[in-house]
Amino acid sequence: MEFITLNNGLVMPQLGYGVFKVPEQEVYEAVREALQAGYRSIDTAMIYENEAGVGRALRDSGIPREDIFLTTKVWNKDQGYDQTLAAFQTSLDKLGVDYVDLYLIHWPMPDEDLYMDTWRALEHLYAEGKTKAIGVSNFHVPHLKRILEEGTVVPAVNQIELHPFLSQEAIRSFCREHGIFVEAWSPLMKGRDALTEPVIVDIAARHDKTPAQVILRWHLQHEIIAIPKSVTPSRIRENLDVFDFVLSADEMNHIDQLNRNERTGSNPDDMHKK
Ligand SMILES: NC(=O)c1ccc[n+]([C@@H]2O[C@H](COP(=O)([O-])OP(=O)(O)OC[C@H]3O[C@@H](n4cnc5c(N)ncnc54)[C@H](OP(=O)(O)O)[C@@H]3O)[C@@H](O)[C@H]2O)c1
Repeated sequence: MEFITLNNGLVMPQLGYGVFKVPEQEVYEAVREALQAGYRSIDTAMIYENEAGVGRALRDSGIPREDIFLTTKVWNKDQGYDQTLAAFQTSLDKLGVDYVDLYLIHWPMPDEDLYMDTWRALEHLYAEGKTKAIGVSNFHVPHLKRILEEGTVVPAVNQIELHPFLSQEAIRSFCREHGIFVEAWSPLMKGRDALTEPVIVDIAARHDKTPAQVILRWHLQHEIIAIPKSVTPSRIRENLDVFDFVLSADEMNHIDQLNRNERTGSNPDDMHKK
């Protein structure tokens, strides 16, 4: 595993395990499998409705709590100061833990104009030590600027959709300038056509690796945190087996050029789902 150090000194595995859309009844086995394979960072969210199963898997694994990096997120309908504090407590209860490592605002929901109140609630939870770091997700540069101007804590992380077909250069460069780590969601483009893209397939063959492994390596070498999801045991292990090869500058450059600003999910500016 490779680790990064967030802007408040907290150490985080650069590769984690995501559980979006893994139903509560399947998530227990999936997280147990991931922990056994060696993942120590788990990314969930209130809206995934699987926090209880994640928490049970963590407890039953016998791995000490302090060796796990646990992320969850406040959902859109819970934005606002008091609502966020209540939602956070519900997440802790479901997870069965007394702190999380990273708490994120899931979407900025700019039309609601509540993310600053929500951020102040996160700052309060952080000051109380109930979360070891706070951050945001799906924030564009103007949303980040407002947090930097009106908030008192610089977000540790901005978790955004990011893969070779959506390389998010502008947000990455802004985050780099301000000490915010970028974390890629759908790092494998949800298993879609980035995995069959000939440039990536060729590079994979050259290294005797799979396209998914090459894409994850591309993230890691760009200092991006990645949280691939899989419920398939062989893929769970495959996605972790990325620390024994290095992409050349040329190969990185070829992958960089694949960007076509193609989203699999919503554009945060148009997200209205509560
Ligand atoms: N903040 C946000 O708004 C947000 C939004 C979306 C996701 N996320 C987070 O990011 C995590 C990852 O994103 P994601 O789940 O959307 O997509 P992803 O990790 O890019 O891709 C997952 C899909 O790819 C398949 N897959 C995984 N490894 C593979 C491999 N080695 N070879 C071929 N196919 C492979 C999986 O299939 P199987 O499972 O069938 O193996 C699954 O269908 C989520 O689980 C969640 O934690 C956050």
